[in-house]
Amino acid sequence: MSSPDSLFPVLRRDIAGQSIESIVQQYGTPCYIYDMATIAQKVADLKAFDVIRYAQKACSNIAILDRLRRLGVVVDAVSAGEVQRALSAGYDPKTNPHSIVYTADVFDHEALTIIKKLGLHVNCGSPDMIEQLGRAVPGSSVTLRINPGFGHGHSQKTNTGGPQSKHGIWHDQIDECLRLADLHNIVITGLHMHIGSGTDLEHLSQVCDALEKIALQIGRTLTTISAGGGLPVPYRQGQSYVDLDRYYHLWDQTRNRLASVFGHPLRLEIEPGRYLVAESGFLVAEIRSVKKMGENTFYLLDAGFNDLARPILYGAYHPISICHRGHQPSDKDLIEVVVGGPLCESGDIFTQEEGGFVAKRQLPVAKVGDLLVLEVAGAYGFVMSSNYNGRFRTPELLIENGSIHCIRARETYDDLIRGEQIPPPPKA
Ligand code: LLP
Repeated sequence: MSSPDSLFPVLRRDIAGQSIESIVQQYGTPCYIYDMATIAQKVADLKAFDVIRYAQKACSNIAILDRLRRLGVVVDAVSAGEVQRALSAGYDPKTNPHSIVYTADVFDHEALTIIKKLGLHVNCGSPDMIEQLGRAVPGSSVTLRINPGFGHGHSQKTNTGGPQSKHGIWHDQIDECLRLADLHNIVITGLHMHIGSGTDLEHLSQVCDALEKIALQIGRTLTTISAGGGLPVPYRQGQSYVDLDRYYHLWDQTRNRLASVFGHPLRLEIEPGRYLVAESGFLVAEIRSVKKMGENTFYLLDAGFNDLARPILYGAYHPISICHRGHQPSDKDLIEVVVGGPLCESGDIFTQEEGGFVAKRQLPVAKVGDLLVLEVAGAYGFVMSSNYNGRFRTPELLIENGSIHCIRARETYDDLIRGEQIPPPPKA
């Protein structure tokens, strides 16, 4: 049985060859499941680029980082915590100084301390960062993240270019950056642009020209250019992948033109998050109530927006499938349902559009106890989860070569209250 969205079947019994029912018997619901083979395939897709730098914010479990490291992928870190995650996963800046690059628009104090201690390369998203790094670690080499004045994303909230975005150094401030760099004995060796997340080839390719112009202004100290991230994946029928050969070709031409002007080769980086992990990930939940509200039928799950925030944040669409348990439905037709979670908040709906409008989805008839799978959930899924409503974060499971590894245990009450303290009562 498949919905009009035939790319995404609405019935599913297994993930990466493993029975969902038996996974759930062992690990319970809700749980995140990742398929390592999909991640490895995605890495292989991008092998034309000299460097694949994973934007670990998309899914930063240290087991995933470890496996990506073994596949030759390096990482981007946006905080001291992400730097430490990379270290835990075996990245070693001593053997490969560019294996972890810190990208941000500001340094907080923890980040600056760890960058100084490890001598990490920094991708500066503001002139202030050049100055602050210059004071802390004079003589550094840096990359500049430039906001080219335009951007694009799957949602206004994931557009990272243009004057409404806080990201990057505005494109007409290059002279000021060069001045600050000289002042602090800093060499600009890299140039980076990331205009948004979940965009398209048309917008992505505009970045090549914009970057080339700025690169010529900075000059021959440059040894690396980065195309940033943003590669989309299809979440629904009708959406498609970017033509990677064409995309690479555009960047390769840009890089070659610059190399011939500068008289030395340039490394070409790409910085995907979503592309590498989104399709590997599934959030499996149990249907705990099937109820009617007027003309609407609701499937209410034991997972909520605390587990997968993308629908409530961006109106993001995730394909949904049903795994029946212990019965086959007598009714083979699809019915229109609204899918929601357990949270005490009306916005806790997985089938909603941007602006919070509840949408219906055609799904198989299901009963309490059946499983519901939110698909293409590997990117910005678990990492954006929270303990809202006192809920424990889910386990994360990795399927690899036919084995299921628990790579993060389900949280317990101790995790929930860790660090909390009740002070002695005030004296009467
Ligand atoms: N590089 C930089 C500097 C970024 O800011 C980002 C994403 C990436 C790379 C990776 O972008 P990707 O390849 O994953 O599109 N929570 C949102 C996405 C926020 C993206 C933030 N930055 C979502 O769920 O769609």
